[in-house]
Amino acid sequence: MGSRLSARHRTALVTGASSGLGEAFAEMLATEGVQVWVSARQPERLDSLRARYPGRIIPVVLDLADGPGAEAAFGRAAAQAGGMFDLLVNNAGYGLSATLPAWRARSGRNNSPRCWARRCG
Ligand SMILES: NC(=O)c1ccc[n+]([C@@H]2O[C@H](COP(=O)([O-])OP(=O)(O)OC[C@H]3O[C@@H](n4cnc5c(N)ncnc54)[C@H](OP(=O)(O)O)[C@@H]3O)[C@@H](O)[C@H]2O)c1
Repeated sequence: MGSRLSARHRTALVTGASSGLGEAFAEMLATEGVQVWVSARQPERLDSLRARYPGRIIPVVLDLADGPGAEAAFGRAAAQAGGMFDLLVNNAGYGLSATLPAWRARSGRNNSPRCWARRCG
């Protein structure tokens, strides 16, 4: 498949790039010649990606659960990228695969659809 990136796509931020889909997105963009800022909470988990694409990958330590910290880290990275990124892959997160009762027990929340709608706990 040919590239869909244009000359305007020179910089990107990929959140959650230390494994899985985020790492794959970062690799794809670095291969296309994009300068990629990659984020994770644990920077050492980004070392191998950085080593594979020297000069193309810039690690950013960012925990999306820490709102002000994440905003500050994003601001610093965007400034390095010239003010804003051309592309954003907002991928960080995790999935839970379980039955609803098991999920409820693990999360400590009442995750019934009615409670999601009412944000009751
Ligand atoms: N894989 C699937 O089949 C699938 C299906 C549907 C949706 N998704 C969604 O796609 C995304 C990636 O999935 P994946 O399977 O590739 O996940 P993964 O391999 O577990 O990778 C998750 C990434 O997110 C980072 N991360 C987790 N919590 C974070 C936080 N609070 N702040 C910043 N970074 C955080 C992790 O890095 P650190 O731990 O180093 O921070 C890691 O780089 C997730 O949002 C997931 O919900 C995946």
